[in-house]
Amino acid sequence: MLVVDFGAQYAQLIARRVRELSVYSEIVSHRLTAADMAARQPAAIILSGGPKSVHVEGAPQLDPAIYDLGVPILGICYGAQLIAQQLGGTVGRGMRGEYGRAHLTRTADSSLLHADIPDSHDVWMSHFDAITEPPPGFRATASTPDAPVAVLEHDERKVWGVQFHPEVVHSPHGMAVLRTFLHDLAGCEPTWKMASVVDEQVARIRAQVGGERAICALSGGVDSSVAAALVHRAIGPQLTCIYVDTGLMRKGESAQIVETYGRHMNLELIHVDAGERYFTALAGITEPEAKRKAIGELFIRIFEEHTGGLTRDSDNPAKFLVQGTLYPDLIESGGKDGTADVIKSHHNVGGLPEDMTLELVEPLRDLFKDEVRALGSELGLPDEMVWRQPFPGPGLGVRIIGEVTPDKVAILQEADAIVREEIAWAGLEREIWQAFAVLPDIRSVGVMGDERTYGHPIIIRAVTSDDAMTADWARLPYDLLEKMSQRIINEVRGINRVAYDITSKPPGTIEWE
Ligand code: XMP
Repeated sequence: MLVVDFGAQYAQLIARRVRELSVYSEIVSHRLTAADMAARQPAAIILSGGPKSVHVEGAPQLDPAIYDLGVPILGICYGAQLIAQQLGGTVGRGMRGEYGRAHLTRTADSSLLHADIPDSHDVWMSHFDAITEPPPGFRATASTPDAPVAVLEHDERKVWGVQFHPEVVHSPHGMAVLRTFLHDLAGCEPTWKMASVVDEQVARIRAQVGGERAICALSGGVDSSVAAALVHRAIGPQLTCIYVDTGLMRKGESAQIVETYGRHMNLELIHVDAGERYFTALAGITEPEAKRKAIGELFIRIFEEHTGGLTRDSDNPAKFLVQGTLYPDLIESGGKDGTADVIKSHHNVGGLPEDMTLELVEPLRDLFKDEVRALGSELGLPDEMVWRQPFPGPGLGVRIIGEVTPDKVAILQEADAIVREEIAWAGLEREIWQAFAVLPDIRSVGVMGDERTYGHPIIIRAVTSDDAMTADWARLPYDLLEKMSQRIINEVRGINRVAYDITSKPPGTIEWE
């Protein structure tokens, strides 16, 4: 199945939904010709949405010969409007947009809107223009108040279009629409499994790396562990893994990571103790992006010092750097082609120095976290790796607001250990996406044992999420919060106040920097 990308926010989400329906999918550019498209022998094609109006100059087009390939096509939002425009229908220049929830009503018999779907139901919309007249031979089968042709269908030609977004969870019957298109109308067999990703990626990695050596930046987290396991399966001893202890890890974490890797993964592992170098690099830096770039840069310099592997084979240095970059990391760092807004430079993407000599291998860059976890299990990684809560590459460096110093790290490590311990004891580890402590750069007045204190607060942050693209603050029980607060104040030197962050993402981000 090919997803043709017109610059959509949701192209990956569409591809992911298709994978959930057990059909293999790839994302391709809208610039592919019909011949290129046919050469890939797709069983079906989905045209994504996109930010442009079909009426503006330079609006992305599709080679019209694609409609004559006989391959079933489903257009979504912009994709549907393009079908209408290219095949002779009319797309009105909207006088008003339709964003968010809208009520869709079936107006005729429909092949796409399966009989089990109610005649009238909610869908998620995000468009300004609207199809007003379907192309000759097409039937309009549903509408909303602002989209007179919200679904268009041509069964003989095998071309369908929907104005709404079936791929988002806010369209409750969206998966049913996609399932009908893929399984019933396009006849795609639901046979694809996560195991197939392993075979595909192994072949891809072998083709990219050839006989060269690669190094992998292991952080202890699920993403880099899965990336390492995958690349190790592909190129075996050509891979050297490097774990850099930045001094910004959580309490006891480095020893535990090195022990777990030793026990479960038969890999060449170099452990670099670089705490002092990081504190030197971070001295005097307070601006979050500057911190991220400094941390990212030092990571690369350290990796470059170890390209010869454990044997320091300087005649045959590694040419590739393996990273566990995920799709949400790429989107927040500005997207694959830099068209999205930069929210923050994830150290494994935007924080890389420009003069880096290593070529990147990123086998997880099209996947979401839960898919990576499934892949990790498929590769036989233990639960303690697969279900480890996400931890950012820049570590506690982005949870200390202001300058990062060894003293502050020590304070934060203690407070953070209490938060995580209490979450674990309450049995909430899997329910909570991330729970941690943040040390802001302020002090406040308190009273402890009849004495005035002027200490730092700790902010507790706990969120629920499916993929870190959006998140909600976790409704932790008050008793649990109270226990955390008491323990932090009693056990951590210099802390006299605890606050709980009740901001979702958006508008906040999960990390504070
Ligand atoms: P934000 O703070 O952007 O975080 O809502 C989304 C998810 O990404 C993690 N995160 C990072 N992971 N390198 C990483 O490997 C980074 O630079 C980085 N910054 C944030 C964060 O912990 C959350 O799970």
